[in-house]
Amino acid sequence: MEILAVQGKAALRGELKIQGSKNAVLPMLAASLLHKGVTELTNVPRIWDVFCMIHILEELGAKVTFQGHCLRVDASFADGVRVSKEYGGKSRSSVLMLGALLARNREACLGLPGGCSIGERPVDLHQRAMEALGAETYVEEDMICAAAKNGLTGAVIRFPFPSVGATENALLAAVGAEGTSLLCGCAREPEIRDLCYFLKNMGAGIEGIGSSRLIVRGGMPLHDSSFAVNGDRIAAGTCLAAVAAAGGDICLNGVEAKDLIGMWEAFLRMGCRLKAEPGRILCSADERPAAIEELVTAPYPGFPTDMQSLFLAALCRGKGVSRVRETIFENRFEIVPELCRMGACIGEEDGLVKVVGQEKLSGAYVEAKDLRGGAALAVAALGAEGETRIAGLSHIRRGYEDLPGDLAGLGVKARVIQEEKHDEKRKEIQG
Ligand code: UD1
Repeated sequence: MEILAVQGKAALRGELKIQGSKNAVLPMLAASLLHKGVTELTNVPRIWDVFCMIHILEELGAKVTFQGHCLRVDASFADGVRVSKEYGGKSRSSVLMLGALLARNREACLGLPGGCSIGERPVDLHQRAMEALGAETYVEEDMICAAAKNGLTGAVIRFPFPSVGATENALLAAVGAEGTSLLCGCAREPEIRDLCYFLKNMGAGIEGIGSSRLIVRGGMPLHDSSFAVNGDRIAAGTCLAAVAAAGGDICLNGVEAKDLIGMWEAFLRMGCRLKAEPGRILCSADERPAAIEELVTAPYPGFPTDMQSLFLAALCRGKGVSRVRETIFENRFEIVPELCRMGACIGEEDGLVKVVGQEKLSGAYVEAKDLRGGAALAVAALGAEGETRIAGLSHIRRGYEDLPGDLAGLGVKARVIQEEKHDEKRKEIQG
């Protein structure tokens, strides 16, 4: 079994180039189906969610080449309408094929991931958006299907909640619909802004970019295009959380500080010293973070749910009591028992977690249960004494190209080792 071994009490020092954004590139890959031609993307991270999306595109008939960080999709003959449960069930982003396939082929049938480890992931907002544009939809046995026999027609779509995925699906479908659509109450995450610029670069007509009200002029002719993916704000936030937990002095290149609104303030509250420069972020911190009285996840520009477990890991060594409330996904505290194995003092009740910061955490055998929770265990490990061994690397690889390599590049001892019986040791040693 592959294990990430992280040596603790390790301050981070040096420079790192941040990978391209996972949450930006996945909807762009879905959007490449809208054009019967070639789309090129650069700065694409080599992560498992991207590989999964490539399999889906190929299953639908696209030709994909991925060399280094340059990805080329030729969707000239991608006329499939069905995404199998095998791939659809693996990545949440496959749901974005709904809007893209409806727009392109007037029909879609996709396997759904169903409930996943961070909580239930319903699709009603996606369905409602597609229905507003004239499609019929239904969900049956972990499949979501939709058809628009006469094609999609521009419409007004109002989101009762700023869902990231539903906004992206609505954008893709509206670009392929006949006529103008008005999308109100949209999510405003930087990845949605980037998707809009990507679509515009392909020839789509979109106004209101960056706001919660988007106007899409559908049916415009699309053309071959090339686009560079921005740096990943959550990967950058992961490194900043590591500095908050273990101290250090780092410079992150290839990422814009403005995309980290929402978590920036929270890093300052933990005592991190941050400096924003064009295309890079500098961060230094002492060995132990300050506690945060209350941290609440919220849609952008609020504190991101994707950063919640990373902050929780850093706050385990906070100087005092912190409280963290999760409002987006109900089960996103699966990391808590694993942090407790390292000596953290955490109690959870009704979506509120109370952390009593400890001066000392100890290395342990732990297991990643989800993507961000896995990276958060590495963050906690850096502030702990001794070595921590983290199983479940496949979760981490969904979204981080080379987390062990990135940490090693910042001067800490992190490596992937082969270890049998990790699970037995985890149960034996810590009960
Ligand atoms: C969410 C996060 C996004 C993060 C991503 C990966 C928010 C608002 N969204 O995006 O920042 O990068 O996870 O971790 O923080 N919902 C419904 N019906 C739907 C769709 C969603 O009720 O049809 C609910 C979900 O149950 C959840 C909330 O809306 O409580 C957020 O969902 P949404 O933004 O759609 O999730 P993702 O697109 O996965």
